[in-house]
Amino acid sequence: MAEIVVALDLPTRRQALALVDSLPGLRWVKIGPTLFLEGGPQLLEELKERKLKIFLDMKWHDIPHQVAGAAAAAASAGVDLVTVHTLGGLQMMRAAATAADPMHVVGVTVLTSHTPASYSEALGQGGEADLQGEVARLARRAMDAGLDGVVASPLEIGVVRPIVGPGAWIVVPGIRPVGTDPGDQRRTAEPGEAIRAGATHLVVGRPITQAREPRAVFEVLCEAAT
Ligand code: C5P
Repeated sequence: MAEIVVALDLPTRRQALALVDSLPGLRWVKIGPTLFLEGGPQLLEELKERKLKIFLDMKWHDIPHQVAGAAAAAASAGVDLVTVHTLGGLQMMRAAATAADPMHVVGVTVLTSHTPASYSEALGQGGEADLQGEVARLARRAMDAGLDGVVASPLEIGVVRPIVGPGAWIVVPGIRPVGTDPGDQRRTAEPGEAIRAGATHLVVGRPITQAREPRAVFEVLCEAAT
């Protein structure tokens, strides 16, 4: 059993609410910076009125004081889950976890858009990074800092679960039902595979937002998740 989190990667509050209202049984939504800048706190309130759980995915990576302030503000706005980059360091993650309580915080390990070569290049190294080793290292740091879990690609769930333990959240983007376009995602899997591997939350954006029939895709995902 996993939660389906619909990533509302749409440009306006109006479009986001129209999608939300077309998906019966929806429990979780994810808001990123694009939509939050347009919809603002008003959108958070409108989603709370609909009794939805809100994942505010801003992937914070800043000095500890700033990240703690952002986490506290999100918690008081009724947000249920936020993200920080594990590469922001232990002190930053600890500050977020402390300020956020009881809201959940998960750590982004390696973005699902990275390949071994693009990650090495971002770190200023040549060759191809060992992404599984890097995800494992960052997941350990996230748990040491007291986070509630991590964000990882479907291909790394098996590596991450023994590190984070049975109760932690593993939030998994890069979900692609059979036949859907991967877009810019590089490390993807079908929903069933991610659930069997131990994902607790499947984040799904374009396969729903760009579908001709978003409700039909959502229903198939919900069935796979139960
Ligand atoms: O459209 P798609 O299903 O690829 O959307 C995936 C969502 O998950 C996006 O909103 C993206 O910001 C988010 N995400 C990701 N990789 C991460 C963390 C979050 O793709 N490591």
